[in-house]
Amino acid sequence: MRLEDTLNKILIVDFGSQFTQLIARKIRELGIYCEIISHKSIEKRKNFDKNIKGIVLSGGPLNVYENKKVKFNNNLLKLEIPILGICFGHQIISKVMGGKVKSSKFREFGLAEVTEIKKSKLTKNFFSNKKNNVWMSHADQVTKLPKNFSVIAKSNNSKMCIIQNNKKNIFGIQFHPEVSHTNKGKVILRNFIFSICKLTKNWSASDQKKKLISEVKEVVGNSKVICALSGGVDSSVVAKLLSNAIGKKLTCIFVNTGLLRKDEEKQVVNTFKKRFKINLIYVNAENLFLSKLKNISDPERKRKIIGNLFIKIFEKYAKKIKKVKFLAQGTLYPDLIESKSVTGSQTSKIKSHHNVGGLPKKMNLKLVEPLKYLFKDEVRKLGFEIGLNKEIVSRHPFPGPGLAIRMPGNISKEKIKILKEADNYFIKSLKDNNLYDKIWQAYAALLPVKTVGVMGDNRTYEYVCLLRAITSEDGMTADFFQFNKTFMQSVSNQIINNIRGINRVVYDITSKPPSTIELE
Ligand code: XMP
Repeated sequence: MRLEDTLNKILIVDFGSQFTQLIARKIRELGIYCEIISHKSIEKRKNFDKNIKGIVLSGGPLNVYENKKVKFNNNLLKLEIPILGICFGHQIISKVMGGKVKSSKFREFGLAEVTEIKKSKLTKNFFSNKKNNVWMSHADQVTKLPKNFSVIAKSNNSKMCIIQNNKKNIFGIQFHPEVSHTNKGKVILRNFIFSICKLTKNWSASDQKKKLISEVKEVVGNSKVICALSGGVDSSVVAKLLSNAIGKKLTCIFVNTGLLRKDEEKQVVNTFKKRFKINLIYVNAENLFLSKLKNISDPERKRKIIGNLFIKIFEKYAKKIKKVKFLAQGTLYPDLIESKSVTGSQTSKIKSHHNVGGLPKKMNLKLVEPLKYLFKDEVRKLGFEIGLNKEIVSRHPFPGPGLAIRMPGNISKEKIKILKEADNYFIKSLKDNNLYDKIWQAYAALLPVKTVGVMGDNRTYEYVCLLRAITSEDGMTADFFQFNKTFMQSVSNQIINNIRGINRVVYDITSKPPSTIELE
């Protein structure tokens, strides 16, 4: 039985809001397991899991009157468990229970003030002097209360901003408690899951560790498992978790593409082979990657070449280990959810991501994906719990194609050497100045232009180094990090004084969108 089937949980019905994952993360942070399901996939479902103890209806871009697009499954009401509707969820629950929703002349986007009208167990400790500031994002509003509902709070443009049917434990709120701009938004979620759904905490890193290890043992039995280890957080956590669970039945394959961060291969071998005594095949393919990438400057071709080569090498070495039945991958929960867009819209392909996890189809291996119900921050907590150190667990993300996509234009051994050094100085300075953990991702890139400089009395003609540092929630959007001048000056000096080949350092001040995080 899956670990998740044994736990009491909150079911989040997704109507396509950009914040649905945030609701899930906030609930899990409060120590309760929850799952997200698209409203489309349960439109006609009659039977629901007995472990569901509460339902959250998410916001969404739809209109409750677009009947074709939104068919609310009334069977959810028959379960007689607490329901919390948020934004669109508030409107749809109001409509199906006999209220009215209308398009409003005045929209509310951004911060708004709500005023308490009546006490409720949902809003206990939420208001101060009957007021609170919340984050709104709506055009429609509930204009007639459903039967047996009462109004708990109002805002300027939403007279029925929080409503409840106290007997049935059904609640609707027009604003977004999951968004950090809503003051004390977590209080509402906490009241809902603990006081109203009466759940007790069941989701912590140590619970996950115990349960995931026993689950892996049960699934794998006496079979052998292989795992592509990249040194990144996800594959490192998978490798260590599996090693804790099945010991020597696991073999990891680590490919040194020559495009890794400075000394990364040494760290991986030291940690996993020497310290944790995990079976690790180290493949040094530096020259092979470099020769296949010779004279290739097109970003997509670089990615394809690296991805294909990686798979070939992985297959070659995996075949040497006889009788392998399973392939372990670091798939995360957002990877699963993102594959099912609620509104049916397809995001256009911006870059073909090569994840070392997305591996050989023709090898006929069964998948073990122990992290597939976890968010990244949960994977990090689990990483600490299973004994990985901060160096690995808090490491910034690193793309599968590595330094190849941080070096627009042709790739050469000389450029890789320069870039590794520059990146290392930058990252080391971030750590020395306690900035590393405040930044979601940072790196140095080498631009394919040379510019003139002067050092001592001599003219120089060398490469431009670009530094990028961003803050982000999940890598989907990002903002550049604001350093102070002293820090930037010191990094620039270190790079220029210590590395032959760079005579100019620039800082990338674009956010995502319109840019992406990586250069290619
Ligand atoms: P972009 O450049 O698309 O990057 O804004 C978003 C995040 O994804 C990482 N990234 C990759 N990760 N394989 C990966 O495993 C890839 O091919 C890849 N390309 C980009 C990037 O580092 C950032 O964290």
